[in-house]
Amino acid sequence: MHIDGKAAKAASGGTFDVYDPSTEQVIATCPAAGAADIDRAVLAAKRAFYEGWKTTAAQERGRILFRLADRIRARRGELAELETRNSGKPIVEAEYDMDDAATCFEYYGGLATKINGEVLPVPADAIAFAMKEPMGVAGQIIPWNFPLLMAAWKIAPALAAGCTVILKPAEQTPLTILKLAEDFEAVGLPAGVVNIVTGDGPGAGAALVAHRDVRKIAFTGSAEVGRLIMRGAADHLKRVSLELGGKSPNIFFSDADFENAVDGALFGTFINQGEVCSAGSRVLVQKDIYKKFVDAAAAKAKTIKLGPGLDRDTKMGPLVSKEQRDRVAGYLKIGAGEAKVAAGGGVPRQFSTGWYVEPTIFYDVDNSARIAQEEIFGPVMSIIPFTDEADAIRIANATEYGLAAAVWTRDIFKAFRVVRSLEAGIVWVNHMQPTFVEAPWGGYKSSGFGRELGHWGVEEYLETKQVYINLDEKPIGWY
Ligand code: NAI
Ligand code: MG
Repeated sequence: MHIDGKAAKAASGGTFDVYDPSTEQVIATCPAAGAADIDRAVLAAKRAFYEGWKTTAAQERGRILFRLADRIRARRGELAELETRNSGKPIVEAEYDMDDAATCFEYYGGLATKINGEVLPVPADAIAFAMKEPMGVAGQIIPWNFPLLMAAWKIAPALAAGCTVILKPAEQTPLTILKLAEDFEAVGLPAGVVNIVTGDGPGAGAALVAHRDVRKIAFTGSAEVGRLIMRGAADHLKRVSLELGGKSPNIFFSDADFENAVDGALFGTFINQGEVCSAGSRVLVQKDIYKKFVDAAAAKAKTIKLGPGLDRDTKMGPLVSKEQRDRVAGYLKIGAGEAKVAAGGGVPRQFSTGWYVEPTIFYDVDNSARIAQEEIFGPVMSIIPFTDEADAIRIANATEYGLAAAVWTRDIFKAFRVVRSLEAGIVWVNHMQPTFVEAPWGGYKSSGFGRELGHWGVEEYLETKQVYINLDEKPIGWY
């Protein structure tokens, strides 16, 4: 772990194993933190906040963020390889993630000096303004699908705001952020400003959520744990932001560019093995192109090259863990009873090791089926037919989630009408998944609340202080 500027073990001496999902071999052993370790990390973060970071010039905080970005770029190859070995994802995708993580630190390095207050036109002989201040110590809990990138999304805006951080990576994938932590002091981060604590949810995560000196919890993960976090945060009335995944609709009208649409459906669902919170796993296809679309998508899905992520021609790696593979395989069984299979549907036979799942397409799926309502978090697409625009919108919104959605059409009027009708925090037109640090990220409904990225991301770590300055020197004279 990385606590108060130093490598640290768990007070209990406990550890857990970290795996390579393509070989199923243990590649590292990490400390299993408990409440005592969280206590130590919070103490360090609190001291670092009050003894310096809170008042460190924004320009200086920005420069440190730029240097973190430089370190990621300088170590891109090494970090990407480690990310692939630990998460299973194709190396080409891991390289994109490293670039995006660096860009995220650069964006917030720039934003650190642009956090402004406002002057307010109050009527009395006075001036009033609203100023922004860092919340204090932030606890951050992240998942395993984009390990270093999710760490960047959390750490960069918090530091730009002037908060100090305790970040708990997912127990499956702690390695890249621990590797980057080796450079924290070299880039000028004072000890205790960013602490990385490893461990599982109930042992380490829950202790972070319960700690009285943590002012804010930022979480990305399952809706189930999101609910636990909200309850846990209630005791000390902590600020909370939650990004909880979804069951996002990807809507294809018959006037869309057909070839591109089929590619977009596959890309939207299968990128990163389908382990994507915004995966377009509900594919809604208009009836007049439905049959042709199912056939074309299935034919293409069968050509996706599975293999170890380190092979450069791999398009889909293994799932992150045995637990996740078994979970997804369970949904393949459920799906076989609820709908028809157009491609995949099982665990591939050609590998002697590795937690692989075939890219799978179910069709004739009813939107009320479990495979249309529950987040699977694997390479599983459910294709649902629709008749017209109103039908598409009705089906698209018939879900508890509301993270993302996409619509494909050449008709600009239809595209914008559908955009307006979708209950989702992110909507793409004629693409699905492009994500930019400048634009807000987060969900409606059970996909959570709060927004990451852009200026919205930094606001999640800021309090607003109202200041009133009396300019009238005559006595108040009331009593
Ligand atoms: P999870 O939600 O249990 O884990 C995410 C993070 O929360 C990890 O760091 C974990 O250690 C932590 N955590 C777990 N229990 C906690 C608790 N009681 N208190 C505090 N922190 C806790 O996700 P899991 O079990 O890895 O995956 C299960 C399903 O969750 C997936 O199949 C997928 O549907 C969904 N998921 C969604 C993600 C998203 O990006 N929206 C990411 C990961 C999983
Ligand atoms: Mg869990």
